[in-house]
Amino acid sequence: MYKFNTPTLTVRNFKIFKGMIEPAQQSEIVNNLREVVRQAPMFSPITPSGYKMTVKMTSAGKYGWYSDVSGYRYVDCHPGGKPWPNIPPLILGLWRKLISDTRDPDCCLVNYYQDGAKMGLHQDKDEADFKWPVLSISLGDDALFRIGNIERTGKTESVWLNSGDVVIMGESARLAHHGIDRIKTGTSRLLDKGGRINLTLRVVDA
Ligand code: SIN
Ligand code: MN
Repeated sequence: MYKFNTPTLTVRNFKIFKGMIEPAQQSEIVNNLREVVRQAPMFSPITPSGYKMTVKMTSAGKYGWYSDVSGYRYVDCHPGGKPWPNIPPLILGLWRKLISDTRDPDCCLVNYYQDGAKMGLHQDKDEADFKWPVLSISLGDDALFRIGNIERTGKTESVWLNSGDVVIMGESARLAHHGIDRIKTGTSRLLDKGGRINLTLRVVDA
């Protein structure tokens, strides 16, 4: 299956690698993302219940994650009609090093959190197969990450994610609820306009 690396911290089987990406590499990733955003501009999706999400997002890869009143799903084109740009090699390299060098991810979702943005407790379950873990990369301002259970209810635990942290959600963590309660603006100078970017890499097709 996937590669085993020793995390700095494990919370309910969420494997957290603190500061895995060093600052120079973080800046390089941000530069690569500028090109992604140029080709596939950020947008604010609408939830199935009709609310505008507080994060802005775009994607790279074979598929992009998308949501509107018809539901959460993966789509093969940006809402503007063009195919999603390729996943930048530096980001793919992290997946290949940490997860698999035989199966690349189908989607790199780019979430951008500005002041006040958050992400409610949810499961990542729009993929056809859950055997591959989700790889999550934090860049920019600190974020309070909440980790729950497979069920929607029950006790949760929270950890701060900082720029350069990487989280692997596999095995029992793959379908566990998680979300971002808030970001602490001004805690990083990585992004010119401040805020936080989270990248999630996922295998979508079985
Ligand atoms: C997500 O679960 O889609 C995003 C998590 C994060 O921003 O760290
Ligand atoms: Mn998620």
